[in-house]
Amino acid sequence: MYLYVLICTIIPFLPDTVKGKQRILFPLPVICKSVCLSAICISRSFLDFFSWVCYPVLRGENMKILQFALGGNKTNGYLVFQEDGGECFVIDPGAEAQKLYEKIQAHSLRVKEILLTHGHFDHIMAVDELRNVTGAGLAMHASDACMLQDGQKSYALPFAGRQAPFHPPSRLLQDGDKVSCEGVTLTVMHTPGHTPGSVCYGGDGVIFTGDTLFAGSVGRCDLWGGDEDALINSLSRFHAFPAETRLYPGHGSSTSIGKEIRTNPFLCR
Ligand SMILES: [Fe+2]
Repeated sequence: MYLYVLICTIIPFLPDTVKGKQRILFPLPVICKSVCLSAICISRSFLDFFSWVCYPVLRGENMKILQFALGGNKTNGYLVFQEDGGECFVIDPGAEAQKLYEKIQAHSLRVKEILLTHGHFDHIMAVDELRNVTGAGLAMHASDACMLQDGQKSYALPFAGRQAPFHPPSRLLQDGDKVSCEGVTLTVMHTPGHTPGSVCYGGDGVIFTGDTLFAGSVGRCDLWGGDEDALINSLSRFHAFPAETRLYPGHGSSTSIGKEIRTNPFLCR
């Protein structure tokens, strides 16, 4: 792409003798653009493929965490479990249900429950398909449950063209609830602001923060149900955790409480 821009920029400044040959040079930028765009497409496909082959294996103190960047929004979905062959949680299966299911099978896992951090479309699009093939239940905060029934609130209609409502959750969560599968227990932390029913799941030295808190930023508050004051209030809860606590957000790279308190403008103000 840089080569394309460079050639387009210098052609008008070429000497007349060379400009006479501009008709010969004209196809060159077009060819360069095609080559560059093809290279970008191929490298993105390669990266997508690579991310499924070499997905990060993260760890809590006593659990394994597989992280996948799912769909066009690259939403982080997580498989959380203690050991291969046991039970697992699936957190935010936002897309690519079949690929997720293949990984679940590859580790011989049984899905105890699907956990949602909130009800936005890019965190829920694979939920029904995954529930159908695994038979797992779905847990989410009560205040976001309505988003599964309303494509305008979840944005599944405008951004993903999905008209049909999702199957309702099998369990509604509240702040302080515990969710457990074999060897793993997580505590529900209600953190409204990005959506009314946004939650984080914390335990074993880690917190899955959804779109409440990212590395260096926070989730937007201008969508349905967003509330900036509520988000600021929710963020204050993170100060109670040890600095080394690992944070696994809904998008982007993982971070830690200590790093965010030092560097995240929304957390250190
Ligand atoms: Fe979101």
